[in-house]
Amino acid sequence: MEGLGRLEYRGYDSAGVALVDDDRVATAKRAGKLTNLREALAENPPADSATAIGHTRWATHGGPTNANAHPHRGGTEGKLALVHNGIIENFHSLRQSLLADGVEFTSETDTEVVAHLVASAYADSGDLTRAMQDVVGTLEGAFTLLAVHADAPNTVVAARRNSPLVVGLGDGENFMGSDVAAFIGHTRKALELGQDQIVTITPDSCDVINFDGTPSEGKAYDVTWDAAAAEKDGYDTFMEKEIHDQPHAVRDTLLGRTDENGQLVLDEMSITEQDLRGISKIVIVACGTAAYAGMVAKYAIERWTRIPVEVELAHEFRYRDPVIDENTLVVSISQSGETADTLMAVRHAKELGARTLSICNTHGSTIPRESDAVLYTHAGPEIAVASTKAFVAQITASYILGLYLAQLRGGSFGRNAAEVLEELHGIPAKMSDLLGNLARVKEIAYFMADTRSVLFLGRHVGFPIAMEGALKLKELAYIHAEGFAAGELKHGPIALIEPGQPVFIVVPSPSAENGLHGKVVSNIQEIRARGARTLVIAEEGDDDVVPFADEVIRIPATSQLLAPLLTVVPLQYFSLQLSSAKGLDVDQPRNLAKSVTVE
Ligand code: M6R
Repeated sequence: MEGLGRLEYRGYDSAGVALVDDDRVATAKRAGKLTNLREALAENPPADSATAIGHTRWATHGGPTNANAHPHRGGTEGKLALVHNGIIENFHSLRQSLLADGVEFTSETDTEVVAHLVASAYADSGDLTRAMQDVVGTLEGAFTLLAVHADAPNTVVAARRNSPLVVGLGDGENFMGSDVAAFIGHTRKALELGQDQIVTITPDSCDVINFDGTPSEGKAYDVTWDAAAAEKDGYDTFMEKEIHDQPHAVRDTLLGRTDENGQLVLDEMSITEQDLRGISKIVIVACGTAAYAGMVAKYAIERWTRIPVEVELAHEFRYRDPVIDENTLVVSISQSGETADTLMAVRHAKELGARTLSICNTHGSTIPRESDAVLYTHAGPEIAVASTKAFVAQITASYILGLYLAQLRGGSFGRNAAEVLEELHGIPAKMSDLLGNLARVKEIAYFMADTRSVLFLGRHVGFPIAMEGALKLKELAYIHAEGFAAGELKHGPIALIEPGQPVFIVVPSPSAENGLHGKVVSNIQEIRARGARTLVIAEEGDDDVVPFADEVIRIPATSQLLAPLLTVVPLQYFSLQLSSAKGLDVDQPRNLAKSVTVE
């Protein structure tokens, strides 16, 4: 239950456990959050058991009900129990043939089909590993499966294809989980599995084979994340803790990137320098907040390298016919490294011959493993569904990549990389100052608890920040919110402005060379004249905004390209506080999951 609690952020519409007890398997399942299962187990405590599997679910096939919750049983006596992440794409035809054989189903899930198939294979061979091996060959789609059987005590068998699974190696006890958070309270020794592998654990053994039955070993590693890092550190919510973790996320992501001469070195970069010099186009693929990090990165990478950069939502990229070749670098950005849409885009890019580089926060996850090169962000575990510290770490890592490419290709920005890096190293201190001055943002959020619609305006790198501010508000406070490019205002969106309409405006630094500051100040005047309530995010000392602002939220002075690392912070905090003011679940907003592992 402790392990399930740490994984609940991955899915939380129902939960269940199965415990092997003598020659039977006992299950308990409840719709809703884990607390419902806890209550059910407290009312009917199961017998002692040393072998168990559990699951927290995010529904794909069949609604979030007790019946559809995992584990699912298989076999006539229900002696097998199985849990599953992912989707079995050919489940319908498999279900039809099982129905024709007289099998009775108790749920609408694709998972129950697999439970019956594995139970039936076990009846033939009497070997749970063999049974799993027999069945995985018949399945299409993405899956992590875990099974226990009443007649195979002390044994859990798992299989993975395109879905995460890690093993925790203990002393006289072994674990499995979708990520290491499940077992870091018990062991720091982990085993990374490859694609299409089956693992069988008992208290004293861990055996890995490939789907074709050939033995394998997996890759052992030590988990460096601290168990305490997965806790809330005294904050009310993970999101608040993670917002306050952001200076560390930026600092740690910058760590160890330069050699003794101040030159950028990227250890995980396995694409040759020669190939990188030949790159003629960069395409960034990502979803949600990670895509906004990519949009910010485009401004910087193009400016520093003069390489054209396109940013595309991964799910759109995957299903059109993108123009890319071996001189294209496709950069995926993903906190989890498991987002199915992004993974499919990376695979598509590889099929088309592009080089692929993953910017990712989760070691050993699928996207970095399948990419030619990896640049890990070091934000630590992000538990809240709404992404915050991963976002600033993604921008930081993208900037490191841009500076590295600029350095490789020479030119003036290559020579200036050290200056930008120095300024990046100064960002965590500025962020800490900013985080200490957000009391007024909280007051504004509580004052706005009944607001129905909020608009966000930004320009240049402030434009993706405006969209990120709107996304945060939608997902956390369930309020209609939209982010616009401030220059687009007069082409339509200004019609939305009516008396009292709250509008956040991200104002560029007055020091910006491109003169955008004055243009955005004019935009503020235009909407104020039409009755908007203007909430202005502006640099310290920028007095030009004062006459037209109902509220001014100050950020420390910084250059235009680095400002997103600061301007996003009050917007994150505003959404967090508005969600709290409405009494909503900050860490697990409705209808969402932290890791979207289905397309
Ligand atoms: O794990 P990823 O970075 O690939 O996730 C991508 C999006 O699903 C994610 O950023 C999502 O938009 C967040 N909930 C936003 O806060």
